[in-house]
Formats: sequence, C-alpha cells, structure tokens
Amino acid sequence: MDDSRETSAKVIGVRRLKEAMAKPASTRIITVANQKGGVGKTTSTVNIAAALAMGGLRVLVIDLDPQGNASTALGVEHRTSAGIYEVLMGTSEITTVIQKVAGFPELDCIPSNTSLANAEINLVSMVARELQLKEAIDQISVNYDYIFIDCPPSLGLLTINAFAASKELAIPIQTEYYALEGLSQLLETYALVKKRLNPTLNLSTIILTMFDSRTRLSNDVAANVRSHFPNELIDIPIPRAVRVSEAPSYNQTVMTYDPLSPGAIAYMQVAREIAERGKAKDEVVFDSNVVSINYKDQMKDGIA
Ligand SMILES: Nc1ncnc2c1ncn2[C@@H]1O[C@H](COP(=O)(O)OP(=O)(O)OP(=O)(O)O)[C@@H](O)[C@H]1O
Ligand SMILES: [Mg+2]
Repeated sequence: MDDSRETSAKVIGVRRLKEAMAKPASTRIITVANQKGGVGKTTSTVNIAAALAMGGLRVLVIDLDPQGNASTALGVEHRTSAGIYEVLMGTSEITTVIQKVAGFPELDCIPSNTSLANAEINLVSMVARELQLKEAIDQISVNYDYIFIDCPPSLGLLTINAFAASKELAIPIQTEYYALEGLSQLLETYALVKKRLNPTLNLSTIILTMFDSRTRLSNDVAANVRSHFPNELIDIPIPRAVRVSEAPSYNQTVMTYDPLSPGAIAYMQVAREIAERGKAKDEVVFDSNVVSINYKDQMKDGIA
C-alpha cells in the first residue's frame, strides 16, 4: 500500500464523480445490520453512502447505534445535539435533527447520542414500539434516493425498528473465522419481521469486509457465502486496509480521507454495484407501429 499519499485532516470539498451513480426509481431504504460486533457495519454504511453522494445521489445516513460511530465518521456533532433518540421518543421532529455532512452537497446524517442507549428500555412501553422509526422516516423519505440505517450489534428493539422501516436489508460479513456464526439468528429475526411487521423487507445485499486475498480463510469464507447467497452477495470484497480504519479518527470517510486507496476504490465499486442493481428500469417507449398492427388485426377479426 502507498502510504506516502497526502491525506487531509479536514474535508474541504468533495469531487463529484465523472460518471453519475444510477438513480433508483424510488427511495431505497436500507438497514445495515449484523448482531456480531465489529464486522464493518458502520464502515460500510458511511463509505457506501459517501460514494453514492459523490455520484450525485441524495443520501441520508441514520445512526441508530448509541456508540455514535457513524456520526463520528461523518464528522457530525452528536454529543450535545438532539438526534434519532429524541425522534423515537417523540420529543423532536425528524426534520429538525437532520445535519449536513461537511463537504458533501447531497449527504445528510441524523446522529445518535448516548441517550439512545435508553431507547431499548423506553421504547418497550410505547404503543407501536416497533414502528416509531418507520413513522418518522415516512415523513422525509421522498427527499432522498438512499437512506441507510446503521444498526447497533444486537437484535433488540432498535434493530427491529430499522427492519420495520426499511425496504432492504444489507449484511456485512467479516471474512474471518466464525464469520457465519450468528447469521442464522439474524436470518430468523429477518424472517419473523417479514412475517409480522414488514412483508416487503428484502435481504438484497451481502458485503464481504476486511478481506485478505492472501489467506485461505478469507477465500473459504467468501466461497461459502457465495454458495449460500449467490444473488445477494456483492462480488467485490472490501480489503482489510489501513486507510479505512484511520479515516474515522479524522472524522472522515475513506472516500475523502484517501480516495485513491484500495479500500476507497473497493467501496466505490461496491456502491456502484448497489446503485446498478437498484436502478430505475427503462421506461416503456410508446411504439406506434405496434399499436397500428394490433388495430389492423382487430379489423381482420371483424371487431371494428
Ligand atoms: N476494510 C477494513 N480494513 C481495516 N479495518 C477495518 C475495515 N473495515 C472496518 N475496519 C475497522 O474494524 C473496526 C470495526 O468496524 P466497524 O466499526 O465498521 O464495525 P461495526 O460492525 O459497525 O462495529 P459495531 O458492531 O461495534 O457497531 C473499526 O475499527 C474499523 O475501523
Ligand atoms: Mg457500528
């Protein structure tokens, strides 16, 4: 890896990509979840979101983890400001807690704060406790092409709220030993939510993270995931890369911290693949020839 590349400690502005990212037909609301800790949920969320925003799309990241890692990585103030917790509790309107991410014209973030740790308890007594997030997101979703929800490493009420509010589920899988451990529990929860709360939720995306092509283990995990999820797997693994792990300490995504590093390039490719998979289908073109042929056929059949 080239470590001599200049990196800046502050985001000044972000270059737009020459080739825009494909726009979806309607807002894609994607939950990024895996109850296993440290698998790359937050890293994938913020970097894919940043890449899509660089491609000209309107993107919102909702930090649903009391740790606030996504807020930190996006350089958004989250210690003293109201965030998603206040929205869930009904004390703030969702429109008032949206913050702009520095340098990106089209990237917003709803931060978490430490109060969010109380949400799991305080939500329990609420009516429609699983649907609080959905009701809030429904008010603003038209303003975005993509909404990503970064989940905490648990399958508690916060994650259930994210599942209920989303159209898609994306699972990052770390290509290490025990990678698939806990996956069946995650899939059971997904199936349960689909049955009871949100029938249209779709496991659309699996991302391999911290991939080391030199190790047999990484390759074995990748092959295993590919055999179980041939359609969901994005076949571009994110390599284990120093720049990716350094970026958050500068309150940046790797897309701005070091856009030419291997991790940034991989996340850019993954984002493009996600956008391509979800792009609006070409509109049906009105073909006057077809209509006239049908018309003549009808004449022949004696209808006219
Ligand atoms: N491709 C990568 N290369 C090197 N380090 C990485 C990579 N992806 C993630 N990391 C590092 O691994 C750690 C865990 O990543 P991350 O915080 O994204 O996981 P997470 O699933 O969100 O964790 P948690 O379950 O605590 O929310 C972080 O320190 C992050 O910087
Ligand atoms: Mg995280």
